[in-house]
Amino acid sequence: MVDLSLVLSPQTPADLAAIEKLDERAFGPGRFARSAYRLREGVEPDHALSFVARVGTLLVGANRMTPICCGPSPALLLGPLTVDPAFRSGGIGEALVGKSLEAARAAGHKLVLLVGDMSYYGKMGFAPAPPDWLAFIGPVDPARLLYCELVEGALEQAKGKVRRAARADAF
Ligand SMILES: CC(C)(COP(=O)(O)OP(=O)(O)OC[C@H]1O[C@@H](n2cnc3c(N)ncnc32)[C@H](O)[C@@H]1OP(=O)(O)O)[C@@H](O)C(=O)NCCC(=O)NCCS
Repeated sequence: MVDLSLVLSPQTPADLAAIEKLDERAFGPGRFARSAYRLREGVEPDHALSFVARVGTLLVGANRMTPICCGPSPALLLGPLTVDPAFRSGGIGEALVGKSLEAARAAGHKLVLLVGDMSYYGKMGFAPAPPDWLAFIGPVDPARLLYCELVEGALEQAKGKVRRAARADAF
C-alpha cells in the first residue's frame, strides 16, 4: 500500500525545481521584485532549517530560512512559505513554520523576521516589529514586518538596518 501521510524533511538541492514551481504558481514573476527577495539574493538558504512537505513522493509545500543581518545581530528571514493549492487548509503551512522555528531554536538562532500577514502568523508566535526599530531593505508595509524571538530580548539587540547577510555572515 502507498503511504500518503505527510512527511516534513529538510530541503535538499534536489527539491529546488519543485519548490520553484510552487513559488511561481503562488506568487508569479512579480515575486522577484519584492523587498524580501532582495534580502535573499545571492545568499543560500540554511537547508537544515528549511523544510519541504511531501505526501507520498509529491512535494506539496516548502518554507525557506535565509540568514540576514538585523542591525548588529544575525537573524533569519522566513519565507517564502508556499503550499500547493490542492493541499491548503490542512495545517501544512503551520507545520512547516513550526518545524523551521524549532530547528532554528535548536541551532542557537535568536531572531526570525518575515513579511506577511499577522492574521496568519500571529498564532505561530510572530508580532509586528515596533515602528522605527528596523529599517527594511526596500518598501514594506510596516504592519506586515513581523518578528519572532527565539530567545527573549533578541529584538532589543537587533535595532537598525535589515541587510543581506554577507557570505561570511552565513551560518
Ligand atoms: C499561506 C499558505 C502557505 C498557508 O498554507 P496552509 O497549509 O493552507 O496553512 P494552514 O493549513 O496552516 O492554515 C490555513 C488557514 O490559514 C488561512 N490563511 C491562509 N493565508 C492567510 C493569510 N494570508 N492571512 C490570514 N489567514 C490566512 C486560511 O484561510 C486557512 O484558514 P482555514 O483553516 O479557516 O481554512 C498558503 O495559503 C499559500 O501557499 N498561499 C500562497 C502563498 C502565500 O501567500 N504565502 C505566504 C506568504 S507570507
